[in-house]
Amino acid sequence: MSVSSSASPGGLPAVAVANLLAAERQRFLELHPRSVSLAGAAREHWLGGVPLHWMQDWGTPEALHVRSARGAWLEDVDGHRYADFCLGDTGAMFGHSPPPVAAALQAQVVDGLTTMLPTAAAPAVGSLLAARFGLPWWQVTMTASDANRCVLRWARAITGRRRVLVFDHCYHGQVEEAMVRLEPDGTVRNRPGLVGQAADLALHSTCIPFNDLAALAAALATGEFACVLAEPVMTNCGMVLPDPGFHDALRELTRRHGTLLAIDETHTLSSGLGGYTRVHGLQPDFLVVGKAVAGGFPCAVYGFTEAVRHGIEQVQQHKAPGHSGMGTTLSANPLALAALHATLAEVMTPAAYLHMERLAVRLADGFVELIADRRLPWHVSRVGMRVEVGFQPRPPRNGAESESGHPALLGDALRLYLLNRGVLVTPFHLMMLTSPATEVAQVERLLALWREAVLLLQVGAGEMPP
Ligand SMILES: Cc1ncc(COP(=O)(O)O)c(C=O)c1O
Repeated sequence: MSVSSSASPGGLPAVAVANLLAAERQRFLELHPRSVSLAGAAREHWLGGVPLHWMQDWGTPEALHVRSARGAWLEDVDGHRYADFCLGDTGAMFGHSPPPVAAALQAQVVDGLTTMLPTAAAPAVGSLLAARFGLPWWQVTMTASDANRCVLRWARAITGRRRVLVFDHCYHGQVEEAMVRLEPDGTVRNRPGLVGQAADLALHSTCIPFNDLAALAAALATGEFACVLAEPVMTNCGMVLPDPGFHDALRELTRRHGTLLAIDETHTLSSGLGGYTRVHGLQPDFLVVGKAVAGGFPCAVYGFTEAVRHGIEQVQQHKAPGHSGMGTTLSANPLALAALHATLAEVMTPAAYLHMERLAVRLADGFVELIADRRLPWHVSRVGMRVEVGFQPRPPRNGAESESGHPALLGDALRLYLLNRGVLVTPFHLMMLTSPATEVAQVERLLALWREAVLLLQVGAGEMPP
């Protein structure tokens, strides 16, 4: 359910939102001449003017070009400094270039970048992964997308089943199996917007609403599913928290029906030490972590239980000789192992999480105060250090409800208002992360700017502040 409509996105007048967005786009162009000029030059050879098309998704008239990023600060090519709450959309969740990671990379960089052989760090990294996340067996990939693809292949090979179950509106990276969508009439189809699909993805995948235990039980009872792939909290359609008891039921039902459970912690690593799995005592068969797991260096890992390892061994013994279809050349390179080691041992610490969570709590409390003061039909969600405002009064229970609570133009107007005043939040749902390097003053500045923007929009609607 959403109170947002085109007439009043997030309970704010559409005209005021459109005016603010137009004014902030103009202001961006005036404030960022060097970014604008680089963007013009970049359009000669980069598709869409940027090396990765998502870099155009910030709602800025031209892409902001970065000079440097350190800790919780980012500086652009025009010399503006930003308090960074986007943090590379989670890749830099532990701050930009955490000093132990930078030092480990600097030491390794002169001793080989890629060798297709383990370095001396390998045993220690394996032990740290097992200790942090509670699963005994591990493999490294370059990205979380890769890790999820490997997990799904192993799950199919072990169970001898083809189908995969995901939750509607999920995102697990460039993973075809997860790119299905539940239509209002109950059918499952390829997600709208996908390009280049050769296959009807619904042949091998299905999706059901998050928190819908009846649908979960009915799907798993067919005995067709190799694996359920789930984020423990949905984070890619806005934030959707699990109902109390949801994860217990998910585990019990998957076990009962012989389906393997893969928990994707790529974003929920924000929950606390060891991710949501450790904090809430989940018992997945597979666990995936990417993005920030090596301090922002490209790397991801997947872990699994002893029972899964045994299943993998059986598959390997009985399969035909030849390439398994898993593995990429640069995975587990010496730099990735060095960055993983430094992150797990020195960056992802209890003290770091304590600081991040303390600031995230302040951030969430600040939004609760703002919502109450300005009588906004919004709510706040938080998973550890990850904070989001949903532009609807009640927290959503599934992906479809959540996505309807994120009006695009309001998001763009607010993000641009903050950016033009030295604060970055994500292009995706205005998500905000606090890092071990984030400062209290940065949090207070963010909250003050949100309040300012809301007042402007309400005044624009003729609603004078008290
Ligand atoms: C939950 C989840 N899993 C996997 C991925 C894919 O990560 P990557 O883009 O690094 O492959 C993402 C990316 O946002 C994600 O949110």
